[in-house]
Amino acid sequence: MTARWTLYAQAFKDNVAHVIQNKPVMAVMKNDAYHFGLDFAVTAFLECGITAFSTTVLREAVRIRELAPDALIFLMNPSTEFQVLRDHHIQMTLPSAAFYRQYQQQLAGIHVHLEYENLLHRSGFKTFDDMIDVIEENNNVPAEEQMMITGLWTHFGYADEFDVDDYHTEKEAWLTGLAMISKYHRFTYIHAQNSASFVRDGLLQDHSHARLGIILYGSRPYASLPEAITRQALTVSANVIQVRTIEAGESAGYSFAYTTEQKTRLAVVDIGYGDGILRTRSKHDCMINGRRHPIRALMMSHMFVEVDDTVTAGDDVTLYSNDIRIDTFTFKGVGANSEQLSALNHDSLQKEIIQ
Ligand SMILES: Cc1ncc(COP(=O)(O)O)c(C=O)c1O
Repeated sequence: MTARWTLYAQAFKDNVAHVIQNKPVMAVMKNDAYHFGLDFAVTAFLECGITAFSTTVLREAVRIRELAPDALIFLMNPSTEFQVLRDHHIQMTLPSAAFYRQYQQQLAGIHVHLEYENLLHRSGFKTFDDMIDVIEENNNVPAEEQMMITGLWTHFGYADEFDVDDYHTEKEAWLTGLAMISKYHRFTYIHAQNSASFVRDGLLQDHSHARLGIILYGSRPYASLPEAITRQALTVSANVIQVRTIEAGESAGYSFAYTTEQKTRLAVVDIGYGDGILRTRSKHDCMINGRRHPIRALMMSHMFVEVDDTVTAGDDVTLYSNDIRIDTFTFKGVGANSEQLSALNHDSLQKEIIQ
């Protein structure tokens, strides 16, 4: 018996089709496709009609090119491996005027998307006027030395916030700048929206793509959405190895992790933080035989779950599935959806993809 990471491929693809509704989507593939596996995810997205991909790491972009020879591939972090970009037709962010001026010669022929910094302040031009300066400088060098300015983009960092005005502010700044700069230059690709923004506003006018991550992978970006908006095709499960009874006042687990108030049945389950179950996740429950039971202690390879006498050795224990979803724990403060996904240890969990 081993703890398992099980992905239901058809359910994953059905969900992607349901989420995108034939809208133009650039799938975010970073961190090994939110830890679903780059090869699986690229193939599944292609089957669903997605032909644009973005990631932060050049190595991943190159692998996407191998899997998707005709796709638009956009690198969201700058790279100075210009020949690799050229060889694999990878388009890249242009994060600042300083980057352009430092690498102007090497950027010849590279396709870039100008990045607007906006409220997130992670990367990008501070103003649209700075972008126009770079567009003009680029226009003023001989054609064969020019970079190809094909796109314009930003990232909304506040689209899942409802108590503050910041999403409204960042959207207004972006749309105002977009309208202004579009008079100077024609961009083929314009993309700004993450999952939360796409759900709130649909695809914004004049945008070529919504740049979606988490909703494609089956988690809601914010809590007030109905579960039906996206479905989780991933299950993480383990096994009851044995059930032990401890008396009132006894402790189980390291350092008195759990001390009982009454005689208690504890299931010993073969999954722990070494498999990527977050400690915050262990403050909540898991599912055995269709019912919820509280996790009482988390160890590296095991956990204790308080159970009743319906639970016996050999029973399946579900940590995550569409019935006990990652996003519900996100909204209880366990950690971001992507944080819970990324933590899962593919080297220790048995990884299975059910076609
Ligand atoms: C630049 C950028 N665009 C898009 C996304 C996708 O966001 P989400 O997973 O919320 O859809 C991310 C994710 O962090 C991102 O960093």
